[in-house]
Amino acid sequence: MNAYEMVNRAVASVRKVTSFEPEIAIVLGSGLGALADKVEAECVLPASEIDCYGRSTVSGHSGRLIFGRFEGKRVVVQQGRIHYYEGYEMGEVVLPVRLMCALGAKTVILTNAAGGVNESYAPGDFMAITGQIAQFVPSPLRGVNDESFGTRFPDMSEIYSPRLIALAREAATEAGATLREGVYLQASGPNYESPEEIRAFRTLGADAVGMSTAVEAIAARHMGREILGISLITNPAAGVSCTPLSHEEVKAAADKAGERFLRLVSGVVRRL
Ligand code: HPA
Repeated sequence: MNAYEMVNRAVASVRKVTSFEPEIAIVLGSGLGALADKVEAECVLPASEIDCYGRSTVSGHSGRLIFGRFEGKRVVVQQGRIHYYEGYEMGEVVLPVRLMCALGAKTVILTNAAGGVNESYAPGDFMAITGQIAQFVPSPLRGVNDESFGTRFPDMSEIYSPRLIALAREAATEAGATLREGVYLQASGPNYESPEEIRAFRTLGADAVGMSTAVEAIAARHMGREILGISLITNPAAGVSCTPLSHEEVKAAADKAGERFLRLVSGVVRRL
């Protein structure tokens, strides 16, 4: 079964349970978990009840889709991301975002925790993603193409929507959050990067580095969706400060910024 056939299977299994049609898909990154509790849920589907849907193995992420109302909009929220570093194929990594788009979502909001490559970024800053570098991980479009999803060679000159970035600026001001704008680079993980890699990434034009998002953005853009990406800067990337990186530090910084992250994303959704 190819990656698109898997998505079609997943769609069919969801449609046996709910006819809910979301307008907006939201992928929750570290720090934004609390958003899930704010959705007036109509239907919650655990990963185990969706055909072909992978299970996240990262502690603290329960894999499920939540369908309901948030800020007056019909949304589907993905809680528990599937990461490439867990060992999944890229088709499995992007299955949830493709599924949410296939179920009706026209707008996709991708969030994540990231390391600051740009030396002027501080932990607790947010960054609207203006562009991305994804050549250090395989493309999720590698393999057979299904024209009903998108074209074989899709344009990627404007992955992230300037209209949505403008809404994020307004929402950040309202939330009292610092919103940077910059380029996100997806590394493969699970190891954090070396200081030499971070220096190289900075030379290449990256402002933030993480282990997700860019491939999901490619898959959603392939399907012609409008995308917003927001990173929460949880730490200076390797070599930017002298302290070694730890997952605990990243999680603690993400939790600390959780409330502002929620206000920021709520403000964006309200404006859509
Ligand atoms: N590198 C990669 N991924 C990350 C980082 C980092 O420094 N911080 C949070 N996610």
